[in-house]
Amino acid sequence: MKTPELVHDIAKEAIRACEGLGVPVSVKHRLGVDDHDSWEELVSFVRLLANAGVTHFTVHARKALLGVLSAEGNRTIPPLRYDWVFALAAAFPELSFELNGGVSCTREALRLLAADDGRLGGVMVGRAAYKTPWVLADADRAVFGRPAAPSASRAEVLERYLEYAAGTFSERTRSGRAPPGRGAEELEDALAAPVSFLFEDQGPEFREALLQGLAELRGSGGRAPRGGPPQFLLRRAALAAAAAEAAAASTREGAGQGGGAAERARGSAVCRDSESQRLPR
Ligand SMILES: Cc1cc2nc3c(=O)[nH]c(=O)nc-3n(C[C@H](O)[C@H](O)[C@H](O)COP(=O)(O)O)c2cc1C
Repeated sequence: MKTPELVHDIAKEAIRACEGLGVPVSVKHRLGVDDHDSWEELVSFVRLLANAGVTHFTVHARKALLGVLSAEGNRTIPPLRYDWVFALAAAFPELSFELNGGVSCTREALRLLAADDGRLGGVMVGRAAYKTPWVLADADRAVFGRPAAPSASRAEVLERYLEYAAGTFSERTRSGRAPPGRGAEELEDALAAPVSFLFEDQGPEFREALLQGLAELRGSGGRAPRGGPPQFLLRRAALAAAAAEAAAASTREGAGQGGGAAERARGSAVCRDSESQRLPR
């Protein structure tokens, strides 16, 4: 955003290169960067890109402080300003604006999509899709009007993911892209991360059980010695952790904490409505 003309030229060239291919070109940007953070600069940035032919913008609703904050700091510290995204949508009704930043669940996305007579062209969910994926399990039905959620249960999602992970693991270890020993372990740890997050809104127990299970399987010789055939341990660890989680959930239910209700309550604890954000009605 410090060099809007360069962004204009890149966008124009991308649109030209995509002509006839059916590939849409959109631009993702922030509200500003460093001291280029005025409303007037933002409006002229969008206008310039609209002149290049861009019609869809994804706006991370905070500014960035380059060289001052880390990448992570730039995703949390500068305050969110949803009202600026709505104001852009009002100022440029012929363009489409997708709001991004801090949206944590389907309910919050729906609230934003409904605000101001549905002026937004979309909502983008970043970290929550990775860190608490289950809060979006119902999004296909709730947001996109599909008849039902595509995955009935976490157990089913887990099974399907483990199938994918096993395929990836064996393809990469066989092709040498993940060499036996440390390489295979690192790949398996990377594949474990999405599994550990699948139950994250239920508390950290599942994640701990999963990672501990993997470590124990390795420690007990589950991992073939260096040079031997690689073994996929994540499946065993994940299924054991899932069984432990299911048992804990039914104990909670038996103790009157209500399995389904408890799950919903935890889901809503994850869902942080941005009440501090002033939204148009
Ligand atoms: C690990 C990580 C990598 C990211 N990489 C990119 C990227 O390459 N390009 C981009 O525009 N945004 C990137 N982002 C930012 C997200 O797209 C999003 O704008 C930001 O996380 C705020 O949305 P959220 O609060 O829903 O996560 C990244 C975020 C994370 C956590």
